Amino acid sequence: MTPSKSEFSLDEDIDRSSVPALKVHPSVLGQYGEGLFAGGVADMDFKAPPVVLDALQKRLDHGVFGYETVPDGLLPALINWLSVRHSWRVDPTHILRAPNVLNALAIAASLFSEEGDGIIVQPPVFFDFFDILKENRRSLISNPLMLENGRYCMDFEDLEQKASDPRAKMIYLCNPHNPVGRVWTRDELRKLGDICARYDVLVVSDEIHGDITFSNHAFTPFSSLGLEYAANCISCLSPAKSFNIASCCSAFTVISNEGLRQAFQVENSRLTVNKNNAFASVAMEAAYRDGGEWLEATLNYLERNVELVRARLKDIPGVNLIEPEGTFLLWLDFRGLALQPDNLTAFLREKANWAVTRGQTFGPEGNGFARLNIACTRAKLDAALNNLANASAAG
Ligand SMILES: Cc1ncc(COP(=O)(O)O)c(C=O)c1O
Repeated sequence: MTPSKSEFSLDEDIDRSSVPALKVHPSVLGQYGEGLFAGGVADMDFKAPPVVLDALQKRLDHGVFGYETVPDGLLPALINWLSVRHSWRVDPTHILRAPNVLNALAIAASLFSEEGDGIIVQPPVFFDFFDILKENRRSLISNPLMLENGRYCMDFEDLEQKASDPRAKMIYLCNPHNPVGRVWTRDELRKLGDICARYDVLVVSDEIHGDITFSNHAFTPFSSLGLEYAANCISCLSPAKSFNIASCCSAFTVISNEGLRQAFQVENSRLTVNKNNAFASVAMEAAYRDGGEWLEATLNYLERNVELVRARLKDIPGVNLIEPEGTFLLWLDFRGLALQPDNLTAFLREKANWAVTRGQTFGPEGNGFARLNIACTRAKLDAALNNLANASAAG
């Protein structure tokens, strides 16, 4: 496959170890991790959009970084983005800023449930959900996804049963889903929303991957389904993944239910988490206002990376791609290799030189799988796939 020409130089190989990037840090790659393919931590190897870099540079050149309020252009840029890209009309008064998405999820848990209460999650799912539950002493109520004909779907019968448990106070919905790559349809979200409303289970929708969807798969913000759905939802969003600015942006919640929003606002004040970081504001505004073209080019690049993985895995027996509909995280099924979890980890790391995220990190349902981050240059991905093919051929 010939590398696609990109005006945004997504093919540029940037040394990430010259900054303390988590993806390539020894704390993630381990002591002897230098030669490994770093396909774990969920960020991209690409530079942020030029419009973001220019805006940050301009702000840096100003040189004064005293206390600031929210820039006038930020909310309009955000609202326009949600409306144009996702057909979601958001009232600006319903938006609250948050330091990051995980913080918003944790505040929702502590505000709208008590110690010992249950939070429903749908594994295999983003591992930090488990940590938040544990650290906030909430019980895990598991509603595992079902893998049917190579595609994950929700088990609504089980969800109904789990939601009817009086301990169940909320669900952490991962929309789109990390790691299985599903972009939930309107129908699926409505079904989930109806069940949750019936049993008074609050929907906390983590939509951090919402901008990253592939052809023919449109992201539906849960609250855009209608007023009654929005009334039972806390939507958590951020430009972190979309524009690769996780370390210099903040997140936001959209809460249309006034009671829930006020409670959230009071908690934000109590914890004093609502100070503005000038760089985060500038980066977010520029990204949402002018970053569309870059995102399109990046989605295109990612989709070509998916094609590469799909093509190469055809020649590697025992390894299957779960077709992604969105996110830059691929869920690979290694069960055909019939390896015990530790042996699979050792095979990937020691034979294939892959540092990817072990499936079991996402819950026991992830045994036999691994998550591969494809937001890297095509050349790097190609080399990693060569290594996997060689490791597989060597047995
Ligand atoms: C589903 C999901 N939610 C939240 C996060 C982290 O968000 P933040 O950095 O804004 O806390 C990630 C990062 O990988 C994620 O995949």
